[in-house]
Amino acid sequence: MDDFYRENILDHYKNPRNFGTLEHPDISYQDSNPLCGDEIRIDLKLEGDKVAAVRFSGHGCAISQASASMLTEMIEGKTLEEIKQIGKEDILENLGIPLGPVRLKCALLALKVLKAGVYGLKEWPEG
Ligand code: FES
Repeated sequence: MDDFYRENILDHYKNPRNFGTLEHPDISYQDSNPLCGDEIRIDLKLEGDKVAAVRFSGHGCAISQASASMLTEMIEGKTLEEIKQIGKEDILENLGIPLGPVRLKCALLALKVLKAGVYGLKEWPEG
């Protein structure tokens, strides 16, 4: 089973979904993983309170990029309220492989950026 997840991660890493930036995004936020300095930016275009378009950009390891790519697929068409409900377990479920504490930061970087953007916070509390 692990193999399926590993291949899926590599696929998202090599062919990231929704990669790029949006012109005039309604929400745009960028942050880095303090451990390595890798960065992710997420842009959202809204229609009402729903995500009409999402793009991510930045650079980082396979886990951080794959996790961001999967997250963008997950939030298309979702409301901001629904996005606020996304938790770390959802990200780990997407990735599907066990992660140590260092890799966990990589995996959660995109979610941290997304939540900070959606909440309009400068920083999303760690947790
Ligand atoms: Fe930098 Fe994973 S090593 S985000």
